[in-house]
Amino acid sequence: MRSIKIGVLGLGNVGAGVLRILREHAQTLEQRVSARIEVKRVLVRDLSSRREIETPEGLLTTDASAVLQDPEIAVIVELIGGTTAAKEMVEQALSAGKHVVTANKALLAEHGEELFQRAQEVGCELLFEGAVAGGIPVLRAIRHGLASDRVQRICGIVNGTSNYVLDKMTREGLGYAEAVSKAQAAGYAEADPSLDVGGVDAAHKLALLALLSFGKRVALDSIFVEGIESVRDYDLAVAKDLGYVVRSLAIASREAEDALRLRVHPVLLPRDHVLAGVHGAYNAVLVESEALGRSMYYGQGAGMMPTGVAVTSDIMDVARTILAHRAGETIKEDDASQVSPLASVVGSPMDSLEHANYVCVHVAHVSGVLGRVATILGAHGVSIAKMRQDHPEGASHARLVIVTEVVSEAAMAAAIAEIERGDDCVEPTVRIRFMESED
Ligand code: HSE
Repeated sequence: MRSIKIGVLGLGNVGAGVLRILREHAQTLEQRVSARIEVKRVLVRDLSSRREIETPEGLLTTDASAVLQDPEIAVIVELIGGTTAAKEMVEQALSAGKHVVTANKALLAEHGEELFQRAQEVGCELLFEGAVAGGIPVLRAIRHGLASDRVQRICGIVNGTSNYVLDKMTREGLGYAEAVSKAQAAGYAEADPSLDVGGVDAAHKLALLALLSFGKRVALDSIFVEGIESVRDYDLAVAKDLGYVVRSLAIASREAEDALRLRVHPVLLPRDHVLAGVHGAYNAVLVESEALGRSMYYGQGAGMMPTGVAVTSDIMDVARTILAHRAGETIKEDDASQVSPLASVVGSPMDSLEHANYVCVHVAHVSGVLGRVATILGAHGVSIAKMRQDHPEGASHARLVIVTEVVSEAAMAAAIAEIERGDDCVEPTVRIRFMESED
């Protein structure tokens, strides 16, 4: 039986998952690949740290060159995360002619262009299924299953932490901070959880989904990103009363042949919307393509074993490529590495969009304040569909919840800015968009 040797960079949660799958499913893998996949070295920061998995003597090393320069190692699996050391190591691996598998969405979203180009130059694969929606094989579905179709729109829940937090707040009435702590304790959050709740992690994943769906690179700063930090349990409770749930969605759409629109922000979904049923840290990606119509990919978007499966399946793909090359077959390079130029993205991602909105204004409980808010909305052409008012227990201020009719982004933003300029406004206004009607 032939053997393909791999080197793993990082032995955290996902690294331990990969090693476990390689060990526990070894026979299945051998049958499917017709080769043994052998972990030769694993790079760790500290040899004495406690780990999720036991490793044989001599496997671990703190010397990166012992992994990256080992001529026997054909595949490097990058699982250290971050964008600095990871980038250097992936570049070194490619320069040494090694194929790379990574689950590092930040690395590819920020430096994908040069890394894919380098991979193409040296004729190596750079695979990244684990970077988007953890264990859900959504990139494979788009790349292979939908290869003959034209994707028009992607709409997904791709950050498990944000979904877990919103879901806990909605279903268990937890406060925001308590729900975030629980997500961290459950191991879903990034090392810096602000990447999760701030929407940046989802933007990284959306850029990668767009790359494979539309064949276009997207600059991260052309994605509109709004996190869930300002959403309160009160807003979720009101939304529930109205028949809606709030989810943080990552949405990419083809606006014209060559123009894309990408955004990440919380959205109010009708209770019976297919994405409203995605609970906890689960992820789901709803794809709309010309011929197939809607298809949805659902499952665990984070964690040791789910992401471990995605990474290990990529390793198997690379192993098959290596064996086919040895057998003299020609393999078409991975399509991600043949990526076309930067997409033209619509002017500002929110330009020309129209939504109905949930707006919660926190104002002093004094006479005339409701009139002032309503006058400002009217002056900006924002029509009120529903309104309610209440007072937090023991507080001297009032909460005005306003549901607007469909209005332009510009009108809504201008109205909120003017409302917030008033001295009677005591806390930041919460504004959440309703899903557009065609969805
Ligand atoms: N922090 C990420 C999430 C983990 O919460 O979805 C997987 O990328």
